[in-house]
Amino acid sequence: MPTMRLLLPLVFSSVLPLVLCGPSPSSASLFKRTRKTPIPSGFTKLNPPPSNTMMEVRIGLKAADRAGLERRLYAASTPGSAEYRQWLEKEEIKSYAAPSVDTRSAVSSWLHSQGIAETAITIAGAWDEYLSFSLPVSKANLLLNADYNNYTYHDSETSSSLKQGESWALHTLSYSLPAELKEHITTLHPGISFIPPLKPKISGFHSRSKMTEKTRRANPAPESCATEVAPHCLQDLYGIPSTPAPATQPPSVIGVTGLHSQWAQEADLQQFLTKYRPDLPSNTSFRLVSVANGTNPQGPGLGGSEANLDVQYTVGVATGTPVDFISVGDIFESFFDGLLDLAEYLSATDEPPQVVTTSYGLTEVFLSEDTADLLHEVCDAFMAVTARGISLLVSSGDDGAAGCIDETNPQRLFTEFPGSCPYVTSVGSVGGIMPEVASYFSGGGFSNFFTRPSYQDTVVSSYLSSLSSSSFPSNEGLYNLTGRATPDISAQGENVPIITNGREAMQLGTSCSSPIFASLIAGVNARLIADGKGVLGFLNPFIYSNPQAFFDIVNGSNPGFPPNDPDCVTTGWPALEGWDPATGFGTPDFNALSTAAGL
Ligand SMILES: *[C@@H]1O[C@H](CO)[C@@H](O)[C@H](O)[C@H]1NC(C)=O
Ligand SMILES: *[C@@H]1O[C@H](CO)[C@@H](O)[C@H](O)[C@H]1NC(C)=O
Ligand SMILES: *[C@@H]1O[C@H](CO)[C@@H](O)[C@H](O)[C@H]1NC(C)=O
Ligand SMILES: *[C@@H]1O[C@H](CO)[C@@H](O)[C@H](O)[C@H]1NC(C)=O
Ligand SMILES: *[C@@H]1O[C@H](CO)[C@@H](O)[C@H](O)[C@H]1NC(C)=O
Repeated sequence: MPTMRLLLPLVFSSVLPLVLCGPSPSSASLFKRTRKTPIPSGFTKLNPPPSNTMMEVRIGLKAADRAGLERRLYAASTPGSAEYRQWLEKEEIKSYAAPSVDTRSAVSSWLHSQGIAETAITIAGAWDEYLSFSLPVSKANLLLNADYNNYTYHDSETSSSLKQGESWALHTLSYSLPAELKEHITTLHPGISFIPPLKPKISGFHSRSKMTEKTRRANPAPESCATEVAPHCLQDLYGIPSTPAPATQPPSVIGVTGLHSQWAQEADLQQFLTKYRPDLPSNTSFRLVSVANGTNPQGPGLGGSEANLDVQYTVGVATGTPVDFISVGDIFESFFDGLLDLAEYLSATDEPPQVVTTSYGLTEVFLSEDTADLLHEVCDAFMAVTARGISLLVSSGDDGAAGCIDETNPQRLFTEFPGSCPYVTSVGSVGGIMPEVASYFSGGGFSNFFTRPSYQDTVVSSYLSSLSSSSFPSNEGLYNLTGRATPDISAQGENVPIITNGREAMQLGTSCSSPIFASLIAGVNARLIADGKGVLGFLNPFIYSNPQAFFDIVNGSNPGFPPNDPDCVTTGWPALEGWDPATGFGTPDFNALSTAAGL
């Protein structure tokens, strides 16, 4: 598993001379943010950086009307609303998401008063939601009352695969800003957040023993699908059409997020299609979309399993649907920068894909309250993306209920970001057929950062009351009862064959589930577009209003560890009738979803 080099955007060119003048604000008028939690393990403080090292500081500006945007998003996404599926235009979104004139001028006048020239400040983001400027570390320390130091990150688990050399970044344990800016600023980056590198949600081979029981849940599929879930199995299980929808202009498009120097190989895709979709032209390919100078080099050995999986289970499942491989560059930045770059592209482009699948994430266990502002920044950027009518699908994580990860409290259960953001659809995993069973690793649970959106209230309460009257442990006191619950739905994620670097490999993980569900949604969208109807866009209120469009999963649970693993004793969340935090509402039924969508 590759590890990301953690590095902040540093600019070493000689920029405009920058003089800090004016009085330093007195401490009475400052608000100070100090790290409250220990630095996560894996980070080590190095020598102080040379004081003339140039660093780029980014300040997040508060949206003019965040609540207004959220209201419009729910109006457009909630079945029965007068504005249902009337997605917002870019300019409309900007009127809510861009900072107010007051906010912009308050922050710029402060910077000017500190000697930072207008020309040195960049306003960035799709809705002008950031302001950034470069300055030497010594000046940043003065300006922000900070103490920036160089920290390296080293993950003992993945050190063997460090590709980009030792990772490092600048962090401070506290900083201060003038008190009158508090209401205008959402984040300051780099600041007090320490973010471990992300991991693609993919694992090795896992074989589930054959189920012989005949309860009908998903549609029937050949017995071979119990041990190898090739595209034809998904067509059978979920009713995904093997023929394309009528061509339209614009077409229904799937975006596949590529982070982390994961390259999708055309040769591998061709070999995959030849073997698993002989009915499709084997030269069917994807389009490369480069974000932040992202690339996608081709050649022997360059394939990434995650990128190949994501492309093969979209091109190979969403028959006839164009696929954009969105390669996000700047791998020297943190995960959050990568997600913000992605959101910015999706917000700004004139021809966005209507469905985007992302198979990268971080367990909330590793994220402390000191990182909350960054999580909310990314989640709000996703809210603005979904308001355009784009469905954001994210794999729910491969640590199950994530018990035994927090060493200080091994019983405590967690969920994973960005699936925990209420504006994305979190996709869990099942394995087996007849019946499909919750995968032990299927990420799910309750967020410590995002409160539960109202669209979930009823089903979460029902689940918790079913759980307490079942024979399973209630997990009471071990999770955050007020948090956003995940996953929303699920799809096959075990024994999924791919081709990578010319070889076959079996994959396991919610990484498989998200592109599969994206393919299905893209198929519904294609037919909606052909009928002159609006696309599904932000899915969750629609999903929670249409549980009948999913095959309910009632077997298995998600402890996060393989059954009978001696290292950890946690039961996770059992899959029960209705929504549950192992599989959400269950797996998709294409025909029922099409009907629910108005086809
Ligand atoms: C931080 O430390 C790394 C590793 O020693 C080094 O390569 C890098 O140049 C340092 N950066 C700064 C700004 O000091
Ligand atoms: C795929 O192959 C067919 C038949 O060989 C050819 O007509 C078509 O142009 C090719 N498509 C692409 C995208 O290369
Ligand atoms: C992309 O590359 C160009 C040319 O090397 C560079 O000027 C630009 O800053 C890069 N953009 C990003 C977002 O890294
Ligand atoms: C529980 O979640 C809420 C957000 O829903 C958060 O404010 C609170 O800090 C969380 N509690 C813990 C113990 O993390
Ligand atoms: C699945 O759950 C149902 C209902 O609890 C039960 O009857 C059945 O035996 C279970 N099947 C498997 C394979 O666990």
